[in-house]
Amino acid sequence: MKIIKAKDYKDMSRKAANIISAQVIMKPNAVLGLATGSTPIGIYEQLIDWFNKGDIDFSEVTTINLDEYRGLDKEHNQSYWYFMHTNFFDKINIKEENINVPNGSNPDEKEACEEYENIIHNAGGIDLQLLGIGNDGHIGFNEPGAAFELATHCVDLTESTIEANKRFFLSKEDVPKQAYTMGIKSIMQARKVLMVVNGKGKANIVKQAFFGPVTPEVPASILQMHPDFTLVGDEEALSEI
Ligand code: GLP
Repeated sequence: MKIIKAKDYKDMSRKAANIISAQVIMKPNAVLGLATGSTPIGIYEQLIDWFNKGDIDFSEVTTINLDEYRGLDKEHNQSYWYFMHTNFFDKINIKEENINVPNGSNPDEKEACEEYENIIHNAGGIDLQLLGIGNDGHIGFNEPGAAFELATHCVDLTESTIEANKRFFLSKEDVPKQAYTMGIKSIMQARKVLMVVNGKGKANIVKQAFFGPVTPEVPASILQMHPDFTLVGDEEALSEI
């Protein structure tokens, strides 16, 4: 595990974006596993800036997003499909057919999850997986207690995640109760994993996840076992380690 300390959010975003752009420059047809949440937004802004300057090209890149709410149509303004398009994809030259997000509008969970695992497999696996971390240590939507050996599956969101994500919806009742998420197994199979963390609110979970025992109760802790895992955090998020 490699830890890179950044001064602040902007610096964290730039350092992480550098790692992603190095991957794309080395392998123009790279498969990038991408994440939502507020933390990666600065990375996407930085990559868009470099794209506008002609420094990075996404025309051959494939993306595979971590998760999607079950029951939200992709056009819903809180779907992760919509988030990724408005914050990133619509502003770069990625081909729409190379973008993959779990199909939240498919009610058949077995079919939706199998289809997604096939997409990962057919893409040849993920070269670099970007992650944020939930307040309870979740990655993607793998909540505490999730079995490490699961591939893409349907999850019930915990009360703490529904509470944390209600800020994006009109009311708490509007937050979907389930999601399709890549499992820990799918994440651990990525050749490189990059996590970004910022702010004081994440300091304690960062300490538990990376300096405590590896346990399904803190899903991110499994990343201690990944052969190529980099954590980029700002000073506040790394303040307890
Ligand atoms: C959601 C996403 C996660 C993300 C987490 C933290 O639950 N499914 O992928 O890491 O939120 O979000 P934030 O970066 O806003 O703290």
